[in-house]
Amino acid sequence: MKHYLAIKDLPSIKATVSEAIELKKNPLQYQHLGKNKTIGLLFFNNSLRTRLSTQKAALNLGMEPIVMNFGAEGWQLEFEDGRIMDQGKSEHVKEAAQVISQYCDVIAIRAFAGLEDKQKDEAEQVLSAFVKHASVPILNMESSVGHPLQALADAITIEEHKPSKEKLKVVLSWAPHPRALPHAVGNSFAEMALAHEDDFEFVITHPKGYELDPKKTKGAILEYDQKRAFEGADIIYTKNWSSYKDYGKVACKDSSWTVDKEKMAVTNDAKFMHCLPVRRNVVVADEVIDSENSIVIAQANNRTYSAQIVLKKILDALS
Ligand code: CP
Repeated sequence: MKHYLAIKDLPSIKATVSEAIELKKNPLQYQHLGKNKTIGLLFFNNSLRTRLSTQKAALNLGMEPIVMNFGAEGWQLEFEDGRIMDQGKSEHVKEAAQVISQYCDVIAIRAFAGLEDKQKDEAEQVLSAFVKHASVPILNMESSVGHPLQALADAITIEEHKPSKEKLKVVLSWAPHPRALPHAVGNSFAEMALAHEDDFEFVITHPKGYELDPKKTKGAILEYDQKRAFEGADIIYTKNWSSYKDYGKVACKDSSWTVDKEKMAVTNDAKFMHCLPVRRNVVVADEVIDSENSIVIAQANNRTYSAQIVLKKILDALS
């Protein structure tokens, strides 16, 4: 595997989940693979889990991580071709990507959607520029439209915590949030869930007007009644996103969409999942996130093994 930009870059999501669970039993067994190799982690946005788990994954594989926060530390990068650079931006991504490729064997990037210009966000301006101008593999640590490391960690967590049942009912539920959030987590979760079509009945529930990009959700069951969606569910995955249709707008803050004990009661004793960070008592009630059915901490732990199995595949291809 050269780059990891989306779930579809994995040869097989189900095989990768099995490999990650196997790797987790002895995470230091491939230390030789990353010896004398460096990964550069470039952050254009904040992070807790991605920043620490990707470094941990690299260290487990014997790699040296270097972290750079572009917002606070780097020169402001220009991404548009042909620009007369006489304003605030000091360096073009053309040089920056080639320079960083000389220092790093893999480049990992976090660059969220701006949520102002749909076309620009969908073009994945930052990620695509690094893919184009860097000469080393690129790892997506959450881009404008996808968070594939998170979705792989989610798949590993579901595999570890699922009830023994032929077909799971997996529900992605929108929840309220005071701020406009990107669609990346929802998109990648949908991509992952739809890749499990033989194993998951995949339902998405949200208020009208919050439909995700239909190209990402083709094949999912859409249910506008949240309680009906929750009935008999085995997995409740909650996440806020802003409107896709009325791009980047917060059209609804309806607190009746908060996931609480009453809604969880109609499920099949479902596990509760969220990628974190989460706003308690806005997205989910304390009584749910603190319950025995909440697997959010195990889910965050799997971010390490998700990143590690992906980095292992990249290192295998380099050697
Ligand atoms: N879930 C996730 O990506 O967390 P961070 O934003 O803290 O990295």
